[in-house]
Amino acid sequence: MKFAILSRNLRCYSTRRLREAAQQRGHRVKVLDTLKFAIDLQKGEPDLYFRGKLLSDYDAVLPRIGASVTNFGTAVVRQFEQMDVFCANSSSGISNSRDKLRSLQILSRHHVGIPRTTFVTDKKDVLPAIKRVGGAPVIIKLLEGTQGIGVLLAESAKSAEAIVELLQSQKQNVLIQKFIAESKGKDIRAFVVGDQVVGAMRRIAKGQEFRSNVHRGGVTEAVVLDETYCETAIRTTQIMGLRVAGVDMLEGKDGPQVMEVNSSPGLEGIERCT
Ligand SMILES: Nc1ncnc2c1ncn2[C@@H]1O[C@H](COP(=O)(O)OP(=O)(O)O)[C@@H](O)[C@H]1O
Ligand SMILES: [Mg+2]
Repeated sequence: MKFAILSRNLRCYSTRRLREAAQQRGHRVKVLDTLKFAIDLQKGEPDLYFRGKLLSDYDAVLPRIGASVTNFGTAVVRQFEQMDVFCANSSSGISNSRDKLRSLQILSRHHVGIPRTTFVTDKKDVLPAIKRVGGAPVIIKLLEGTQGIGVLLAESAKSAEAIVELLQSQKQNVLIQKFIAESKGKDIRAFVVGDQVVGAMRRIAKGQEFRSNVHRGGVTEAVVLDETYCETAIRTTQIMGLRVAGVDMLEGKDGPQVMEVNSSPGLEGIERCT
């Protein structure tokens, strides 16, 4: 088969490993920089140009669309879909998972554990919203943060209210979310491919930090997930409209609580760990 990996960075670990794995299995594979495409539309003929030339035929596309290029990246994937090229993750799945509000909205109608979350815009709604999710300490997060940067823990309802107001005044949309205290400083990343969990790890935060992101100094250990966690991760991936995903779950006292879904999960941590 002839594969295209959509990635901005040929040298990044995950892209390199995907390429090696495809080659080891005897496939032809090219890494194509997502931002070097032109999307051409005319009656009955969706086309793609790459670096100014009409793109040759591909059998399958592995999208690795980073958060900084979501809009254009998902448009490129959508164009491959219009041209009937198999895409490992769909454009709609990538869009669904990219936004924490949108993904929790979609999950909330299914039997998948999620931390109680609210989204408000009116100032008067902030304090009642904090109370509804269980009161302080409470999690506040940006809709599209990554690497733990847009997530904070407010110790009191008053400070939570002030933080939400400050962020909203800066035109930032934020979610107010129940702090899953029993999972403080830990979470689970399940790596789903198709209808299987192919690997999983627990991330443990450094010191007093509550965020377990590796970018925040978190360390990882391999875990074997029980059926509930596996099923939650697989169902979440499918509900999102994805085939490949890293599903992040907190270990709540009532079982897995899905926080977010990553449509381009990094491979370095999980490979090293498992
Ligand atoms: N509701 C919560 N309760 C407890 N810890 C949380 C909660 N939400 C996030 N965290 C911690 O913060 C980290 C980052 O949150 P996450 O929503 O995954 O944002 P990001 O996209 O920046 O990784 C998580 O890995 C987890 O350790
Ligand atoms: Mg995360």
